[in-house]
Amino acid sequence: MGLPERLLDEFRVLVGRDHVLSDADLRARYETDWTGRFSGSTPAVVRPASTEDVRAVVELCRRHGTALVPQGGNTGLVGGSVPLSGEVVISMERMNDITDVDLDAGQLTAGAGATLADVQSVAADAGWRYGVDFASRDTATVGGMVATNAGGVRVFRHGSTRRQVLGVEAVTGAGQVISRLGGLVKDNTGYDLAGLLCGSEGTLGILCRARLALVPPTDSSVTALVGFDELAAAVAATASLRRSVPGLEAVEMVLGDGARMVAEQSGVTPVLDPVPPVQLVIEAVGPPDPVDAVASALDALSGVTQVAVATEVGRAAALWHVREAHTESIARLGPPLKYDVTVPMGILARFCSSIGGRVTQVSPASATWLFGHVADGNIHVNVTGHGEDATEVSRIEDAVLSTVHHAGGSVSAEHGIGTAKPAWLRVNRGDGDVRTMAAIKRALDPDSVCNPNVLLPGR
Ligand code: FAD
Ligand code: MLT
Ligand code: ZN
Repeated sequence: MGLPERLLDEFRVLVGRDHVLSDADLRARYETDWTGRFSGSTPAVVRPASTEDVRAVVELCRRHGTALVPQGGNTGLVGGSVPLSGEVVISMERMNDITDVDLDAGQLTAGAGATLADVQSVAADAGWRYGVDFASRDTATVGGMVATNAGGVRVFRHGSTRRQVLGVEAVTGAGQVISRLGGLVKDNTGYDLAGLLCGSEGTLGILCRARLALVPPTDSSVTALVGFDELAAAVAATASLRRSVPGLEAVEMVLGDGARMVAEQSGVTPVLDPVPPVQLVIEAVGPPDPVDAVASALDALSGVTQVAVATEVGRAAALWHVREAHTESIARLGPPLKYDVTVPMGILARFCSSIGGRVTQVSPASATWLFGHVADGNIHVNVTGHGEDATEVSRIEDAVLSTVHHAGGSVSAEHGIGTAKPAWLRVNRGDGDVRTMAAIKRALDPDSVCNPNVLLPGR
């Protein structure tokens, strides 16, 4: 790990002594990921305050051949935000300003370190809304969301993070500052560099700020928790709701064993009791008031066994609990294996009913938990209780991801490739795609300073 004291001193000159953390106890929280599965160590955590600081840090690292891991809220789920090979961590937490709120255009500029909850709150104060939402909102940052092209529960309505990004300011691995924060909705002046950085997982450069588009506010909302006996009925209901409810914002799915596990781990009594085999959490917003549209859409569905409805915020949160608490409840069972996949809608129900069996064939003691963004065909397959032996883990991974690949799906719907899945990138994307990505990486980060072990290790 040993970084020369001279280099640490140069970091201290650049960002200030208090913002180069080299003591073990100060570094610790930056060295292990949210799941506890990915852990390493760093000689120092460097915390810049400006784009110029970031540029200087990148230049210094290039000169010394030192690798960087950019880190935001460290809520990423694929081991991309922690220093697994002794990299220096560049933490963006000080760059958290939200500025230039444009009430007419519905836009704002957020520092990479601003949290999702901060963006949502500033947007609401301005009479607008931010189109992306997910459960780690209090900690996940704009830099991390852009770098992972984060999804969440509103993607089929508003798109993932890429669709909200109108421009970015970033420092490439080659030390170039790219900056386009004017918020032009139409701008065809050459390559879409902001779009390229969305989903780049910190491998092309360090994101410093982003110009974000907002969506119109709501004046009413209705949340429903709907029980089904059959997966196929829940998937068919998703399509039907999308066709018939204009203000539909979210359709999320949980299964019976997951709902019981959440109740046990969180101590919260299930809203639907007895717990049905499948539940959808549905949210629709107005104007116009969506209550009648949701009520008649629910009436028209087949296979519904139970329904709970809420129009008031506190009660709506109670209905969301069974879905939102899945990630934390699963984590309490021990560090899970997390597979975040999309499969074509036509095979979604069959995939969900068969994948647990495939996992237990190769890992008999394990439990498989399925939940997720059913309207996007995006299911989170989590496995706990497995042996930690590397061959067992790789058999589980193969059982899940090769099934997804052969079904024409994606091995990463929203969390990215990180350090967890580079081997699957070539399988899933093919040689031509991966060579093109590697060529882009070499152009923007010729010395492999930025996240060299993520996405395209060894490129
Ligand atoms: P980090 O974890 O710090 O980093 C993630 C990746 O981005 C790393 O590769 C890192 O190097 C890179 N990075 C971070 N900041 C920068 C920067 N400024 N410049 C360049 N690269 C950078 N994700 C979803 O998509 N949808 C969900 O519904 C969802 N729900 C979640 C719920 C829970 C409870 C948890 C714990 C996580 C969830 N996530 C979800 C995953 C995670 O919150 C997102 O991936 C989020 O975008 C990560 O943001 P972060 O700031 O924590 O990034
Ligand atoms: C979610 O949808 O809850 C997240 O993507 C987190 C997870 O997969 O656990
Ligand atoms: Zn998700």
